[in-house]
Amino acid sequence: MEGDTPFADLFKESMIFANREVLSPHYIPQHLLFRDRQIAEIEKALTPSLRGERGRNLFVYGKTGTGKTSCMKTVIERIKALPVIRAKISYVNCRIYNSRYRALSKIASDHMPIYAKRGYGIVDIYEKMISWIEEDGKVLIVVLDEIDIVRDLDDLIYTLTRANSDIKSGGITLVGISNKVSFKEDLDPRSLSTLYENELVFPPYNSSELASIVKERALKGFREGVVDQAAVNLSAAIAAKESGDARLALKIISKAGELAEAKNMNVVTIGDVEAASKFAEEEIAYEMIGTLPEHQKLVVYAIALMSINGSRYKKLNEGNESFILSGEIYSRYSSIAESLQKDVKGARLYRKYIADLEMQGIIVSYESGKGIRGHTRLIKLSYHPEKIKALIERSLFREEGEQQNNVAGTAAPN
Ligand SMILES: Nc1ncnc2c1ncn2[C@@H]1O[C@H](COP(=O)(O)OP(=O)(O)O)[C@@H](O)[C@H]1O
Ligand SMILES: [Mg+2]
Repeated sequence: MEGDTPFADLFKESMIFANREVLSPHYIPQHLLFRDRQIAEIEKALTPSLRGERGRNLFVYGKTGTGKTSCMKTVIERIKALPVIRAKISYVNCRIYNSRYRALSKIASDHMPIYAKRGYGIVDIYEKMISWIEEDGKVLIVVLDEIDIVRDLDDLIYTLTRANSDIKSGGITLVGISNKVSFKEDLDPRSLSTLYENELVFPPYNSSELASIVKERALKGFREGVVDQAAVNLSAAIAAKESGDARLALKIISKAGELAEAKNMNVVTIGDVEAASKFAEEEIAYEMIGTLPEHQKLVVYAIALMSINGSRYKKLNEGNESFILSGEIYSRYSSIAESLQKDVKGARLYRKYIADLEMQGIIVSYESGKGIRGHTRLIKLSYHPEKIKALIERSLFREEGEQQNNVAGTAAPN
């Protein structure tokens, strides 16, 4: 298929795409459909802070792809466009800044560029942040997106709340955003009462809403006549059935475009959309696995290893599918955690991890009937164990390396 000229494809104009950027999950459209109420609610919650009063904290949650990040960013842009106000704002993507130290450094460096450099201790950062706020009684709005990923979240929330009692004039208003609907149950009661002063839920989109979202985006992202209504509707219907996730719907249609392009076609067919939906789901699952909290990642890692070296473990064959016994996964997880010198989490927490992983579609499980060692849970990965193994090894290795460079920042303010 490839021609002889190196990079020939690079300069070839696409017959499918008019603007790929518009189809990327990071693109934020000018106007967000069906979210006027949520945007108004966020603005209402932040209005006191914009007036220079410390407002009530806000907690926003809803499944992935329900528009939380886009709505928040839209509001942030509007705030930044306001004429002089005392409020400052920091948006923290906790997938990247996933610890108290990293989040605080990010907040500090947003407003005091010197803190973009590494190596400042947390006490120093904390104190500078406080005196910067007190200088002229600022109100700092801190948006923590995907807050559930922060490893030492209770510490982070505690530090930011504590700051409010240390600050003599001005203050900090918190906005927490989570994709995990059950997140409330995991929080320390103190953090919970801090965050839940106000709450806002983003419901999943239904199929017709998703179709409108996809259609609007396809109009800009694809060349004229490439995508018809049937292709739009199908990608919306698949995503609605899965989860009501706009990101999935958009990923399906753009992946379908890539498949059509690879075949040198100039239309996207229903068949392309069907094929794309399989890829898109998988891609999203891998992204999710890469950013799981550490111990859940280790559990998935244990399952992946056991699925690969199947013969050494007792898998139970149900038709063509092999399942692994939950208890054996727990022992394998424990020995992996030990060998990495991590505290092994108890069996109760482990069962919660399993339930969470299943809810995210990363594993499937079922309770066996009587017979096999009484009742036991049988578990299987939903995606390729080899790919998952490689992915987790990459991400674990990266984080270990970073932590070692970070010792300077581990002292806690007290
Ligand atoms: N109401 C909407 N109108 C248009 N596009 C949307 C809407 N909601 C979500 N999207 C698109 O779907 C994708 C995922 O949205 P995002 O805000 O990241 O969701 P969340 O933060 O809830 O996971 C983004 O590409 C976004 O532009
Ligand atoms: Mg988001």
